[in-house]
This record gives sequence, C-alpha cells and structure tokens, in this order.
Amino acid sequence: MQKIYLSQIPDGAPIPYDLYNDKDVILIKKGTKMSSDLKKKLQRNNIIYLTPQISPFHILDNRIKYLDDDVIVEIEKVKKVYSESFYELVREFEIFKESKRLDKKIISDIAENLISSISNNQQVYASIQGIRRKDAYTYLHSIDVSILMILLGKSMNMDNRDIEDAAISGLLHDIGKTKIADNILLKPDKLTEDEQIIMQKHTTYGYDILRDQMGYKESIYRPAREHHETMDGLGYPDRISGRDMHLYSKMVAICDIYDAITSDRVYKNAMLPHIAVEYIMSISNKKLDSVLVRQFIQNISIYPIGTKVLLNTKEEGIIVDNNEGFSLRPKVQIIGTDIRRDLLNELTVFIENIIE
Ligand SMILES: [Fe+2]
Repeated sequence: MQKIYLSQIPDGAPIPYDLYNDKDVILIKKGTKMSSDLKKKLQRNNIIYLTPQISPFHILDNRIKYLDDDVIVEIEKVKKVYSESFYELVREFEIFKESKRLDKKIISDIAENLISSISNNQQVYASIQGIRRKDAYTYLHSIDVSILMILLGKSMNMDNRDIEDAAISGLLHDIGKTKIADNILLKPDKLTEDEQIIMQKHTTYGYDILRDQMGYKESIYRPAREHHETMDGLGYPDRISGRDMHLYSKMVAICDIYDAITSDRVYKNAMLPHIAVEYIMSISNKKLDSVLVRQFIQNISIYPIGTKVLLNTKEEGIIVDNNEGFSLRPKVQIIGTDIRRDLLNELTVFIENIIE
C-alpha cells in the first residue's frame, strides 16, 4: 500500500489508516478528520506521511511459528535495528529537504549501528535479503543497499573504516532523489522519456550535494554519481566504463539492482532471489563487474528464511535456517509435521521448486 503525504490530505478529509508511532502505540484513529492544527502537530513529531504500519518482514511474520527460538530472537534484534535505522534516515532526509543540511554524525551512527548488528547476526541478515516488503521505497531501499554493501565489504575483508564508508555510500547513493518532484518519484506507472531524463538527474544532484554541500569524501560522493554507470560505458550520466568507475560505485550498482528487482513495488512483482541471482549473473560483464558479482552472490541466501519450497519428496516446507557456505542446502521444516530436513545431511533430498 502506498504512503500518503500529509500535504495530499485536504483539511476536513478523514485519515485513511490508524496511525502508530514507532513504539506501536496508536496516535490517531482511522477516520479522524484532518485539520491544519493536526498537520502541524504531526509535522512537529517528524511525521510527514502516513502508511499502514510497516513491517518490512511481513513474510517472516506470517511464518514465524516454523522457526527456532534462537532464530526468532535474532530476527527480533535485526528488526529493531532495521526500523530504528529506517526512522532515523527518514528524519534526516526530510530535515535535509527543508534545511539543506545533513547531520554527518547521525548518518555515521546509522552506518555503525547497522555494521555492529550485522556482525552479531550476519546469518540472519544474509538470509533475509530479498524477501522484505518495500512500501516506503526510497528509504527502505537505501537501508537495504547499505546492508548489502556491508555484507559485500565484509566478504571482501575490507577493514572497518572502509566498510563504514561503503555503508554510508549505500545510505546516501540516492540522496539526489530528494530534489526530484514527488509526482515523478512516486509515480506508480512507467516514466515517460522526459520524466526519465529528469529522474536520471538524481545522480548528478547527489554528487553535488555530497561533494559540494556536505564535503563528503570521494568514496561517498562518487557512487552517488556513478551507480547507474555500466561496465560497457552505456549507463548514465557520463557514460564512463567500468575502468573509470570507483570500486564503491561498482559495488553500489550491484546492490542497487539486486535490491530493486527483489522488491515488491507497485508496478511490478518482485523476483524471487534464485531468479534475481540468475538475472544478475546474466548481466554481469556487460553491465556489472563480474568478479564483484560472484563475490556478492556468495553472500546472498538463494533460499531466504521463510521461503516456502517444494522438495523432490513432494513435501512442502518452510526454510527455517541456512547452512553457511552451502546456500543450496538449507534446513527445511515440513509443513503440518514435526519433520525437519537438514539438506546438508540428507543429500538425496533437494529443493524442486519455490512455491512463494
Ligand atoms: Fe539511483
């Protein structure tokens, strides 16, 4: 369901959803009439749009009963960090739109929080990529790209400072979109050619903001400009080839595409991770750096926790855990039974299909 900005609700119109704060407490009941006083009150509380309560993990929420307690505990921790990061980033970007100032310390804090949470719960982060619902798209997408950048950076044995830069470049790669009008940014249909040209400007806007306004370093402002460039030199805005792209730009390009194609957006259905992985591989070399793509894929669970699968035994099951380094052989809880199959031990059993 789509978000509705306060400015889109005329005075006197009923509010379409119950409105919660980040502690899950109802602030305003559905049907309450909007007024300019109420708008001011909401804005003072940093609320600038309404959505039904967001659970980026709705698939997991529906299937949590199949998971082990220790996995559930980890997921709860991840959810907390994820939603805190999300709200912080929303606040910073909205303040930026008003004041043209970004608090670099808060952005670093978001990155550091994500990094330490990923260090403690790496398996869960690697296992949940590509299965979350994306309502507030730009913000959730920025958090997701940052998470993917951290996972990728860690797998490349980058040191902590470099991982933090990689995380920040993921958080801010689309900041130029704050200068794109909402009627283009939030348009549910395909953009016209003219609109596409305007949308593409988010790369140079982002570069200007991060380099000139904010004084960020090269490893952060270059990905903002270069993340839509491609290895074959047919991307935008400068049509540079892979040789001239910054390492982080090539990393963001992979994380950006993977997250976009696995997201549930208004105008298209999300690709399941195993199909997304095939797609990413098919465009590597021409569009993406193939060495980095291989590295990236090793960190993504092809069968994320919560995925419903059909085994060759004709049993239906839910993926409840992954075996590190063996992404094709996860642990599967058979639906309606007490049977738990660890495909790393049962080598004649394999996943025939993903059901959803
Ligand atoms: Fe972008």
